[in-house]
Amino acid sequence: MARNTAHYVCQACGASHPKWSGRCDACGAWNAIIEEAARESAPGGLGKGGARKGRAARVDFVGLKGSEPPLPRLETKLEEFDRVCGGGLVAGSALLVGGDPGIGKSTLLLQVAAAIADQARAVYISGEEAIDQVRLRAARLGLDTAKVGLATATNLRDILASLDVADGPDLVVIDSIQTMYVDSLDSAPGTVAQVRASAQELIRLAKRRQITVLLVGHVTKEGMIAGPRVLEHMVDTVLYFEGERGHQFRILRSVKNRFGPTNEIGVFEMTDSGLMQVSNPSALFLSERPGNVSGTVVFAGVEGTRPMLVEIQALVAPSSFGTPRRAVVGWDGGRLAMILAVLETRCGLALGGQDVYLNVAGGLRITEPAADLAVAAALVSAFRDIPFPQDAVIFGEIGLSGEVRTVSQRDARLKEAAKLGFAEAIAPQAHKSKKGGSTLSLETVRHLTELSALLHRKQKSATQMEKQPS
Ligand code: TYD
Ligand code: MG
Repeated sequence: MARNTAHYVCQACGASHPKWSGRCDACGAWNAIIEEAARESAPGGLGKGGARKGRAARVDFVGLKGSEPPLPRLETKLEEFDRVCGGGLVAGSALLVGGDPGIGKSTLLLQVAAAIADQARAVYISGEEAIDQVRLRAARLGLDTAKVGLATATNLRDILASLDVADGPDLVVIDSIQTMYVDSLDSAPGTVAQVRASAQELIRLAKRRQITVLLVGHVTKEGMIAGPRVLEHMVDTVLYFEGERGHQFRILRSVKNRFGPTNEIGVFEMTDSGLMQVSNPSALFLSERPGNVSGTVVFAGVEGTRPMLVEIQALVAPSSFGTPRRAVVGWDGGRLAMILAVLETRCGLALGGQDVYLNVAGGLRITEPAADLAVAAALVSAFRDIPFPQDAVIFGEIGLSGEVRTVSQRDARLKEAAKLGFAEAIAPQAHKSKKGGSTLSLETVRHLTELSALLHRKQKSATQMEKQPS
């Protein structure tokens, strides 16, 4: 009896279902399930058919220590990009660069291809833009003389045929994986099956020919790389290119890296002539800091291995509606709700009837729990209308009983603050005993209730300083 070989795949999460339904059980997305033809050669399993027996001798077990030479890496000389990749591009690896449409992925990868062109052969395959469009961009970036091979193609069979040659390229940019298709599959380009099959073929080629493949992947509204979350585990490195629209800053963040650290970030600025590297982001993020006003604090954060100072701003205003508004940019809304609840319950701050706005200046997105104390300080400062000391940075995690907890990489945070001319740091208690090796004066807090008093004290000593001219 012929079996029905069609199956139904959710385009949002890649889950496979035996029959169609309006809503995906796995991720809850509506109208995302479409019918796809079954994969041509589904593995049959080993059980049936009296197939040959596996021989144990074919699987060799070896020790963990070996004498492999260090991985050869191609350095692009775009330091921000190299650092995020873990020190350059590894030959034979596949990278996925995800991001919202229009954020600058094509621009970044064209710049990477051009930067590498004088030491390696780079090609750029566009499935989205015409040759003229890419050329126009290259001219705008001042890169039109770089020796990058440019092509427009979407059929993977043709692409593989032209790449799988003896004197093929060392670096291939595929812009984007959602436009590529394998002609032996029935489904449309951009579906999970196509994206998965296309990526698989390209990755196989990368390993066989030692080519570095850079795949561009668009991200859906929910923040997933469309369809292919399946892609994330296939590639060696996943980079996200993010930023607030309307801000010129762009952050390249590594979320997975088989050849380097994750959570490393690179900072770029989108200008008229392409993406510029920002080598001292702290100075930039703090450059527009307002003077002595309440509700703004400087958080000493760490992104990956890199310390970074950012300004956190809060505004607290009486609400004119029944349900007060909470709006947050650059931080987690759930975490803000938690801090508000802790401030209200443990410190008696009546924030329940207040609208609360929180903003991380510069368009950076912070995920560290170490920012809790900075957020709380900004809120207390805004609510009590006491300015936070101008020359101080703050960091620390907050627990549900209002206790302030220690965080990692304290020395890196303090060093960065000292480098940028700050005089004081407000940090969790346990840190005081350790040797800091920095010139900052340390003020410690054990519990959130100390925060108000601390702000009062700082304000008083600041006004006294003003009264006594030196
Ligand atoms: P693009 O690289 O096409 O984004 P993606 O590939 O992620 O969709 O970037 C498009 C945006 O970048 C577009 O809105 C214009 C802007 N841009 C500049 O501001 N300056 C430039 O030099 C370039 C090339 C683009
Ligand atoms: Mg693009």
